[in-house]
Amino acid sequence: MNGREQWGTRAGFILAAVGSAVGLGNIWRFPYVAYENGGGAFFFPYLFALLTAGIPLLIMEFTMGHKYRGSAPLSYARMNKKTEWIGWWQVAVSFVISTYYAVIIAWAMAYAYFAIGQRWGEDTGGFLFGEYLQLAEVPGQVGSIVPSVFIPLILVWVIALGVLFRGVKKGIEVANRIFIPALVVLFLIIVIRALTLEGAAVGLDAFFKPDWSEIMTPSVWVAAYGQVFFSLSIAFAIMITYSSYLGKKSDITNNAFITGFSNSSFEVLAGIGVFAALGFMATQAGVPLDEVATAGVGLAFVVFPQIINTFPALNGLFGFLFFTCLVLAGLSSLISIVQTYIAGLQDKFKLSRTKAVVYGGGLSALISILFATQGGLFFLDAADHFINTFGIALSGLVSVITVSWFMKKVPALQNHANSVSDMRLGLWWKICLGVITPIVLGYMAVQNLIGNIQENYEGYATSFLLYSGWGVAVGAIIVGFIFSAIKWGENDLEIPKEKGAEL
Ligand code: ALA
Repeated sequence: MNGREQWGTRAGFILAAVGSAVGLGNIWRFPYVAYENGGGAFFFPYLFALLTAGIPLLIMEFTMGHKYRGSAPLSYARMNKKTEWIGWWQVAVSFVISTYYAVIIAWAMAYAYFAIGQRWGEDTGGFLFGEYLQLAEVPGQVGSIVPSVFIPLILVWVIALGVLFRGVKKGIEVANRIFIPALVVLFLIIVIRALTLEGAAVGLDAFFKPDWSEIMTPSVWVAAYGQVFFSLSIAFAIMITYSSYLGKKSDITNNAFITGFSNSSFEVLAGIGVFAALGFMATQAGVPLDEVATAGVGLAFVVFPQIINTFPALNGLFGFLFFTCLVLAGLSSLISIVQTYIAGLQDKFKLSRTKAVVYGGGLSALISILFATQGGLFFLDAADHFINTFGIALSGLVSVITVSWFMKKVPALQNHANSVSDMRLGLWWKICLGVITPIVLGYMAVQNLIGNIQENYEGYATSFLLYSGWGVAVGAIIVGFIFSAIKWGENDLEIPKEKGAEL
């Protein structure tokens, strides 16, 4: 589209891409995934996954966005009209994620407030599920809206949509220029403090000690690939969208390496901070580390408040800093996730940015209220599991197979990336996209399908999982086909010759 928005600077684009990648997944997911899957030995499959799938796919998505200059649906449609549905599928996946991701940020906001004076009390688990979330007894029960979740949720949407109203350069770029440096500084303060706590070494030892017996287990490799995908925001439609706002001459390959390694550095930093703190807590409580090590909601909202309770001094301040970090990391990712469907709506329906934000963001905000009810946590858990497994991982597989095997676009994309980048892509990239990634993701998809059919996720009732999990994942694919059936305007599928500044 002529007159497409553009990033102001190269640094602005990189900060936004890093801001998208660095999210809740880095802080609460990575440390535990690494610990569970061989500790120090996990770095081997993790690095392998990063170099064979993470960065190669990131380069592929950056190149597609840059070459075809469109949101994910438009870029796929310009590559080949028959593949447009993959773009919409990924946009639909992002839509679903945004509806619950916003709610987790809202919890973190509330907890930043609770941290002052440790309002969560001694029984942090009881506080989270009882007093705070007022959790329904049975999965599937909706119950009433929980005000202490709903109010911060409004604030999350006001900030995210407020940034998005202002556009790519004045909104997203400016927000990331503030959020990311602030996040890094605050997080470093926490990590340094955690490292100086008594017992920190116990945690670090558990985190880094390699357990080589795990290395040949397929599930460890599946975990590494899953982590890299979620963490790098790959197959979310995000990176295609973001790179479509780059200028004509922008170094694609270098940008992908910078984004990938920055994200992984933050991930390792989070692992160090989290495990140092867990080591401190295990030492204080006189229990082995594996009794306190956990992930996700349990780590951030049950164990961390306990750690803050046990802190020797400045408990409130460090609690506030930790949850503020979650909010900052989450917001910059949420903004990128929502931007995917704003861009999709703008491209396909010729909506102004304001209208696209109101319709797309508004609908997502409305749906997110479901997760702010008493039954919210159960819906969130099911949607998150299924959309990760059968949205991100599966659409990643479909996209890479489509691009490399069916459309045979790897050489064209390679030429494009090489024409604008210092670093040249060669055999490594082709083998990763054409062979390694399809095999590993294919294996993952089959394993995931068998696993989820044989056993109900978390033992939830089949009827509940049918609509809150399977239904959501299949729904995203159907949305993909429906939206791609709508006709484009004349000339929409021609790649515009843009003027584009050099970034
Ligand atoms: N990449 C984002 C995260 O890690 C979605 O949370």
